[in-house]
Amino acid sequence: MAKVKITETSLRDGHQSLIATRLSNNEILPIVEEMDKAGFYSMEVWGGATFDACLRFLNEDPWERLRQIRKRAKNTKLQMLSRGQNILGYKHYADDIVELFLKKAISEGIDIVRVFDALNDIRNLEKSINTVKKEGAHCQCAISYTTSPIHTKEFYINLIKQFESVGADSICIKDMSGILLPYDAYDLIKDIKKVTKLPIELHNHCTSGIAQMTMLKAIEAGIDIVDTAISPLSSGTSQPATESLVHTLKGTEYDTGIDVDCLGKVADYFKPIMNKYIENKTLSTKVLMTEPKTLQFQVPGGMMSNMISQMKELNASDKYEDVLAEIPKVREDLGYPPLVTPMSQMVGTQAVFNIISGGRYKIIPTEIKKYVQGLYGKPAVEISDEITKKIIGDEKVITVRPADLLEDEFEKNKKEIGDLAESVEDILSYTLFPQVTKEFLEKRRFKEYENSERGTI
Ligand code: CO
Repeated sequence: MAKVKITETSLRDGHQSLIATRLSNNEILPIVEEMDKAGFYSMEVWGGATFDACLRFLNEDPWERLRQIRKRAKNTKLQMLSRGQNILGYKHYADDIVELFLKKAISEGIDIVRVFDALNDIRNLEKSINTVKKEGAHCQCAISYTTSPIHTKEFYINLIKQFESVGADSICIKDMSGILLPYDAYDLIKDIKKVTKLPIELHNHCTSGIAQMTMLKAIEAGIDIVDTAISPLSSGTSQPATESLVHTLKGTEYDTGIDVDCLGKVADYFKPIMNKYIENKTLSTKVLMTEPKTLQFQVPGGMMSNMISQMKELNASDKYEDVLAEIPKVREDLGYPPLVTPMSQMVGTQAVFNIISGGRYKIIPTEIKKYVQGLYGKPAVEISDEITKKIIGDEKVITVRPADLLEDEFEKNKKEIGDLAESVEDILSYTLFPQVTKEFLEKRRFKEYENSERGTI
């Protein structure tokens, strides 16, 4: 029986996609034990934006959240998402940080680490893969899925072979923009299955309205694991609903074996919580609407809404269509980067500048210069000499792995944050998000001080 396994994403991507990652420990922890009974293959609970949001908006320690979830999830594997050398931040960190961070994440409860690189540059994943393997956890390597003349089936199959050769335990097709079409998915997965025995997982988003159809075709093609979110946290810019898929597969050769009554309890728990977020407008109905233009322009939904507001601020809303048409051109110039964080923001901004500044590449953001210098990694296609010259002049393009140029950071940061940090975890949080972590640690210190004052009375 080709039983389909499910990774439940509510506690990471579900709330990240719909309500800006605002679920707090008070909202998450009471339901974990119930979720643990459902029979999921894994639950994605950490990484991505959850870490930043804990510290920045919720005044919570993300490490403590992980420990608390672990305590309650006795049977289900816990999964995290990591952006390779960027870990959970937006720049490359030195190897000592990547190693220590993943080591700690695993020792505090993570079983499966899903790693990806925005450029699919395997050099940016090496350190992560080696560490996860060394620590005895499961390393899932994810393809950042995109479309372009060079992102063919052969391209992805070649990438998967590379992942396999460096020790991946499973492969994820990560379609962050929701652009993987059902029949393309079917063909791709059928062909992948011919070249590897590794389990294959599909991660997609409902943004453009095709995710459920794609998921079903992926299942028919033999995919092993799919990512879904419990109904109140599903659809729109999030994943397909867990219950709907479980019902769809029931009694078929793909039956997930998951307990639907248990899922019902979980959904009933989250409904009033999500109602609160609708009422306080954290959940905008806009993110629940289908946006098929994503398929036409190959631009992720989130990026499109960012650009609309950017253009409004610049009083250039009338040029929106021009910018949309400029995006594929910028992508081509830059070697077809997948439009995922941080590349989506960078390509979008460059396209806006090209249109409103009265000439292409008249204004170039620093991040684009760094990218062309190779500091983010290697694009799938080499950038032409002409574009390189236009963007960085005579400056050199690096050919080494970007992180090879970085000095170890842990000791330096440990000194910098001083005794505000009470653990290795605090220093790691500080390394990734210096300002917000410092404020969080100061608040915590003040609370401790207050408590001890009271304690002495
Ligand atoms: Co996602």
